[in-house]
Amino acid sequence: MNILMVCLGNICRSPIAEGVMRQKIEKYGLDAEVNSCGTASYHIGESPDRRSIKTLEHYNIDISQHQGQQFMISDFDTYDLIFAMDTSNYTNLLAKARNQKDKRKIKLLMDESHPGQQKIVPDPYYGNIEDFKETYSLIEGACEHLAKKLSII
Ligand code: 4NP
Repeated sequence: MNILMVCLGNICRSPIAEGVMRQKIEKYGLDAEVNSCGTASYHIGESPDRRSIKTLEHYNIDISQHQGQQFMISDFDTYDLIFAMDTSNYTNLLAKARNQKDKRKIKLLMDESHPGQQKIVPDPYYGNIEDFKETYSLIEGACEHLAKKLSII
C-alpha cells in the first residue's frame, strides 16, 4: 500500500501528515509506505516549515530531512491512496486525474475521521504555532482512523 499526502506547498501540512502516518504504520505494523508532496512548485527542495518540524519533535517524529516536492501525474501510478488536505488540493488533483481509476484514489484526509462532512485541514502557513498544533491534532485523528482501517483489511 503506497500512500501520498498532498497539500499546496508541501512544507506545512502534508509533511506533518507523512510523519504522523509513518508513525501509525509502525504502530499498527502495516505493510505500507507514505510520502508527501504539494500541488504547487513554490517550495521544491525546501525543508518543511520550522513550525511543522517543531510541532512533531514533541511526538518524536523527525521530518527535518524531507525535501519539498511537487505532485506529478505519474504519482497516480505509484500511489494507491492520495489524500488531499483541503478541497482546493482535492479539486486540483481531480482535475489532473486521467481516468476513473485515478479519480478513485483521491480522498480528503479528514474524511477518514469525519466521513462525508467535507472537513478540511486548514492551511496554517499564515498562522502561529498554536495553528500548527491544531493541524497536528486534526491530522493525527484522521491518520489513527486510517491506520486502524488498514490494519483490518
Ligand atoms: P502547506 O502550506 O500547503 O500546508 O505546505 C503552505 C505553504 C506555503 C504556501 C502556501 C501554503 N505558500 O503560498 O507559499
